[in-house]
Amino acid sequence: MPTVHNWQIGRDMSYPHEERHPERQFAFVFNLNRCIGCQTCTMSCKSTWTFSKGQELMWWNNVESKPFGGYPQHWDAKILALLEEANPGGQVWSTAGAGSDNGSDDAPYGRFDGMTVFEAADKKPRPDGPQQALGYLPTDDEWRHPNIHEDTATGSHFKKEGQYGGSTELPEHKVWFFHLARICNHCTYPACLASCPRNAIYKRPEDGIVLIDQSRCRGYRKCVEGCPYKKAMYRPETRTSEKCIGCFPRIEGKDKSASPTGAPAETRCMAACVGKIRMQGLVGIEEDGTWTPDPKNPLYFMIRERKIALPLYPQFGTEPNGFYIPPRWVPRNYLVQRFGPGVEDAIEQYSCPDRELLAVLQLFRGGQQIIFRYEIEQGEKVAEVEVTMPDGTTKTQEIFNDTVLGFNKFDEEFIRITVEEPTFERPAEMHVNSI
Ligand code: SF4
Ligand code: SF4
Ligand code: SF4
Ligand code: F3S
Repeated sequence: MPTVHNWQIGRDMSYPHEERHPERQFAFVFNLNRCIGCQTCTMSCKSTWTFSKGQELMWWNNVESKPFGGYPQHWDAKILALLEEANPGGQVWSTAGAGSDNGSDDAPYGRFDGMTVFEAADKKPRPDGPQQALGYLPTDDEWRHPNIHEDTATGSHFKKEGQYGGSTELPEHKVWFFHLARICNHCTYPACLASCPRNAIYKRPEDGIVLIDQSRCRGYRKCVEGCPYKKAMYRPETRTSEKCIGCFPRIEGKDKSASPTGAPAETRCMAACVGKIRMQGLVGIEEDGTWTPDPKNPLYFMIRERKIALPLYPQFGTEPNGFYIPPRWVPRNYLVQRFGPGVEDAIEQYSCPDRELLAVLQLFRGGQQIIFRYEIEQGEKVAEVEVTMPDGTTKTQEIFNDTVLGFNKFDEEFIRITVEEPTFERPAEMHVNSI
């Protein structure tokens, strides 16, 4: 099997295809501290792409309430258990070098010493032939409840010695949940693509979006089995599989309502986000797979420079291009298993963002087009606040009313937003209510 380099696990790994990279890569950052679980993203995708026959249980975008929710149910617990079974006790990171200051560009979170889904596939031979990626096929019932455990905090059946109590027990601060919004990660090394015996899945060279060629697909469902994130879905009506298409017409600038000059626009689920948790972009990729240094691209800044946004289950080995700012209130061991060893450092930075980071965080949902570059115009200092850090110490945060500007692909300014929200006073005269 060819060897490819995976920067997220800090090492080379085996993958069924030769290493090849797109010119730009579809990527996104979701700030989990802000998601309110409103499902507007879910419905915006559904009403655009999956409203036809056979797509009833198909949710390319879903938002699950953790720790218990999942679509399909238990997807992550199941794949983690399979990996553990294949490599008992070995799914660990060498974290030397992890963190925003120390981590090399090549191994920002340290090195993962365990097995990826590709490496573990050999360990689990199957009677019906070899798997390219370790996986499983969810049952119909597991696909049936996309919203299961919606807003349910940790329950008593989760209680173990020294762990968190039931949701009715005190101390209340140990009861936690958060909303995990998910779409296809348009992985650098897609397990869906690797698994398809028909070579019906491909990655677009211009933007790295992963698509299933409907004319080649014969419904083998190996992609459904192989994707560790369970983002390829079978449609019985057509006997083919389908998945998130990255709203590629919008990426190509074809939705003039979002970008009148034809600049790339963010996808439907991003643009609709009520909580302003989502930012999507197209990052430059070098021939060898490294990200083109571009510190004024907000995604590059948050993901590669500050490492405040982390990949979802990097240890699976697909090099997912979805990145998450982890939620501050969730137990660290849970987050580290999910987002890797960079969690502590990311939360520390987010708890007390410096001047530049605070300005960049304002860009989320400032407009519908993809931001290729930002600029900051410095403003006056407006506040000084004491912030309690995760370790209980305090820090002083200085807040400046900077203005942050966002530019599209054609370097046209389309966002201008201040750190301090402007307030407007309504005139005193009365208006008759129109209803
Ligand atoms: Fe394929 Fe799954 Fe990665 Fe999407 S998330 S590209 S479906 S492996
Ligand atoms: Fe759906 Fe487009 Fe979002 Fe994919 S990117 S989940 S196709 S709305
Ligand atoms: Fe969360 Fe935004 Fe989706 Fe609402 S629209 S559930 S805030 S990601
Ligand atoms: Fe291949 Fe998946 Fe279709 S495995 S043939 S793309 S159902």
